[in-house]
Amino acid sequence: MPDHPQTPAQHAFLFADPAAHSLSPLMHRAAFAYAGIDGDYAARRVLAPDLPDAVAGLRASGILGANLSLPHKESVLALLDELTPAARAIGAVNTIVHKGGRLHGDNTDAPGFLAALADAEAPKGGLSVVLGAGGAARAAVYALKQAGHEVLIVNRTHARAQALAAELGGRAAWPETAPWSAVTLLVNASSAGLDAPEDSPLSVFPPLDPSALVYDMVYRPAETRLLRDARAAGLRTQNGLGMLAHQARLAFAAWTGVDVPVSVFLEALNPPAGDLAGAAAP
Ligand SMILES: NC(=O)c1ccc[n+]([C@@H]2O[C@H](COP(=O)([O-])OP(=O)(O)OC[C@H]3O[C@@H](n4cnc5c(N)ncnc54)[C@H](OP(=O)(O)O)[C@@H]3O)[C@@H](O)[C@H]2O)c1
Repeated sequence: MPDHPQTPAQHAFLFADPAAHSLSPLMHRAAFAYAGIDGDYAARRVLAPDLPDAVAGLRASGILGANLSLPHKESVLALLDELTPAARAIGAVNTIVHKGGRLHGDNTDAPGFLAALADAEAPKGGLSVVLGAGGAARAAVYALKQAGHEVLIVNRTHARAQALAAELGGRAAWPETAPWSAVTLLVNASSAGLDAPEDSPLSVFPPLDPSALVYDMVYRPAETRLLRDARAAGLRTQNGLGMLAHQARLAFAAWTGVDVPVSVFLEALNPPAGDLAGAAAP
């Protein structure tokens, strides 16, 4: 444990609907304990019409800040005082930081994703494919473009891939005609596979470059059909737990100034079997 002075109780929240089975309290409570800070983190179910009141409550208190999950990541933007360039470009906030009465909106999904890729020794640059065109795909495309990747976007609804490419860069592609053999990073940022071990965003697994990494943002189940198909093809694979842990680490650092090792967050996600029964994202 690092030498960190005790501070008065400090609190952060998750606002989401549903929120009851969030994994975030496990991670952030472990981080407070590691950092020696007398703090707490709680998941609160906030319905969409109640978000303005919940955010106003943050402003009125000495609370550190909050995380946002479905369905609030986009609608919260209009309620904040400032946005980081990443949050503005992605159009989504997953972390509010309370600084002297002002609320700053940040997006730690994008840098958390890049940190997880670095841990997995993903290729730096090269041709990447992002599957999906929702909020997670927006963060992935933004992050990969920032990191110098050439990005193709493949989505079930092709028009959404085209719109995302026009906004954030990259090119929309069809699974049938994408130049798969040149692809060194395949990222599933769609919700295919979530709670559905037999569901894959690609009905036929494509012939990627043999050095490719396949990264699935889904972490429940720990191994999706996409990752099984990739492993069967002899490719390196990684699920979304690392991204989940890193986005939490970065939010915690923004609130407290303490960069707790990602291992603390990952260990909190791996309690004795049974403790995670019914747990849900994020
Ligand atoms: N590991 C992490 O820390 C982390 C962080 C954020 C998100 N995630 C995960 O990322 C995933 C996407 O989240 P999101 O917020 O971006 O969701 P979202 O905004 O609802 O977008 C869902 C996307 O998935 C596509 N999709 C859904 N079902 C599909 C299927 N059966 N086959 C092919 N495509 C399908 C949708 O395609 P259409 O456009 O055709 O509807 C859409 O592009 C979720 O599984 C979420 O848990 C993980």
